[in-house]
Amino acid sequence: MRTHYCGHVNRDLIGQTVTLCGWAHRRRDHGGVIFIDLRDREGMAQIVIDPDTPAAFAIAESVRSEYVLKVTCKVRPRPEGTVNKNIPTGEVEMLASEIEILNASLTPPFMLDDENLTETVRLEHRYIDLRRPAMQKNMMLRYRVAKTLRDHLDSNGFIEVETPMLTRSTPEGARDYLVPSRVHHGMFFALPQSPQLFKQLLMVSGFDRYFQITKCFRDEDLRADRQPEFTQVDIETSFLGEEEIMNIVEDMIRKMFKGVQDIDLPAQFPRMPFSEAMTRYGSDKPDMRVTLEITELSDVMKDVDFKVFAGAANMENGRVAALRVPNGAAITRSGIDAYTEFVKIYGAKGLAYIRINDITQLNEEGLQSPIVKNIHQTALKAIIERTGAENGDIIFFGADKTKIVNEALGALRLKVGHEHGHVDGRAWAPLWVVDFPMFEHDEEADRWVALHHPFTAPKDGHEDLLATNPGACLSKAYDMVLNGWEVGGGSVRIHKQEVQSKVFDALKISKEEAQEKFGFLLDALQYGAPPHGGLAFGLDRLVTLMAGAESIRDVIAFPKTQRAQCLMTNAPNEVDEKQLRELHIRVRTPNVAGA
Ligand code: AMO
Ligand code: AMP
Repeated sequence: MRTHYCGHVNRDLIGQTVTLCGWAHRRRDHGGVIFIDLRDREGMAQIVIDPDTPAAFAIAESVRSEYVLKVTCKVRPRPEGTVNKNIPTGEVEMLASEIEILNASLTPPFMLDDENLTETVRLEHRYIDLRRPAMQKNMMLRYRVAKTLRDHLDSNGFIEVETPMLTRSTPEGARDYLVPSRVHHGMFFALPQSPQLFKQLLMVSGFDRYFQITKCFRDEDLRADRQPEFTQVDIETSFLGEEEIMNIVEDMIRKMFKGVQDIDLPAQFPRMPFSEAMTRYGSDKPDMRVTLEITELSDVMKDVDFKVFAGAANMENGRVAALRVPNGAAITRSGIDAYTEFVKIYGAKGLAYIRINDITQLNEEGLQSPIVKNIHQTALKAIIERTGAENGDIIFFGADKTKIVNEALGALRLKVGHEHGHVDGRAWAPLWVVDFPMFEHDEEADRWVALHHPFTAPKDGHEDLLATNPGACLSKAYDMVLNGWEVGGGSVRIHKQEVQSKVFDALKISKEEAQEKFGFLLDALQYGAPPHGGLAFGLDRLVTLMAGAESIRDVIAFPKTQRAQCLMTNAPNEVDEKQLRELHIRVRTPNVAGA
């Protein structure tokens, strides 16, 4: 039908007749001449319709937004003064000789260039939202990222193997999406939270270098960087250690950024142990562009009069820590109140602060604060020295269980850092976080749970700690962090059945339960499993960062809302009684007590 994309017409075609197909982005009537901006995925072309071609002119008069048109036209230079250097087609315009309306359109629910669209309206009519140039660009970027990664893996000897979508629960820590079996009464498949177990089995099968760009499903609380179904670039290798795996995938990411967007990431990504990340940044995925740091103070607060601090300092799993904000004394009372409300989201009970007026006076004159009178000189001195505070700064404090302090001050660090310009100007700050603990303590259930997943290998020399001191046992796990987002994570796996059993023991998973849930893996480990390990990248997150988008929803063609719904298809939806009956399912009514 067409000879060129709208977005490809340029001055080289001047004098030629072309046929374009696309959507009427905008129609303007200018003193007897009609202009139509015709849009397709490659860009926009300006069509001019003159009354000298009465048939075309009559049709052009009836064209409305988003009509689908086929236009035959002659390319000519734009008149002096109307050239638009901002778009590739801005030096030319097309004088139409023929227009055909291929299809009309209802008045669209929103104008594509409306900057203030709500996400709801966009998601309800996603097929129109996806016409917007920014979304077209995001989807093309996503394709190029996936293609570049696939090509890179292919040329490094990785092969793509598909693994099942209808499977059993994989322990990645989220809830499963379940699929009822019609054939097996009362039984369910789980959609994979990741291909973790299958990729390990593929190593046992000798495939040596596997990858898969695949959907994973997790029923978890959604945020800007999480979707219930998302895409992993999933990788597994045999006979490679931690270092080698990290180097291979780091190189891949570096080349991908360079190839797709000409971005130079550093030659070697820095590495940071998990414990350091938590102590200094309150997070296992620190945004290294933010220059603020958290300072440890627990040891000097044990005997201060301020009960909140002394209490946390003496508590098992407690922490008192500070966040110094240079020049922060200018933050107003209401600014401080807003930050205090903000940290409450993370469970903090308050946000103590000291404004540094005069560093030479360790009293209420020099240190403006509601808490200074209850903190002795030694501790005040330590606060000033350790934070490196100077006149004109403000110091915020967190005192509570370590987890709460880290989350609250970690989040405050990012918020204050970005709001008050405490960023180092780098566009990209990648980081490997390494030396994760094997386990974290689940206080509610009073037991250890795997920090990554239970197939992660302990660090060399840490195997005995599995039984004696699980909390101190470190793992061969690594996460790749970029600008404060966890973009990938993986580990070297356990390849010996005895070690896997010790981990299940530490997790208080009984032999029977382990056999029932992962028997196939435990068996496979006994049939010549090679040493192996790998990692998975979150494709959606990588693309979001590269696109500069705010949410991963902007780089997914048909995403779900924060409430895990598709507003366009209205999924999930009720199904009819017959279908339920076939699946042996009776729906409980939620408002019936005990249901
Ligand atoms: P993990 O659970 O860390 O590891 O997931 C790997 C990467 O997937 C991305 N990701 C998500 N992206 C969008 N929405 C979500 N809900 C979501 N959850 C995770 C993140 C994350 O870094 N089997 C292991 C990998 C391995 O050990 O090889 C796994 O799934 O970017
Ligand atoms: P209060 O003694 O409750 O009046 O609190 C005095 C100051 O300490 C106020 O600025 C509170 O915001 C702050 N504060 C209270 N609890 C905590 C806490 N757990 N961590 C940090 N600051 C706190």
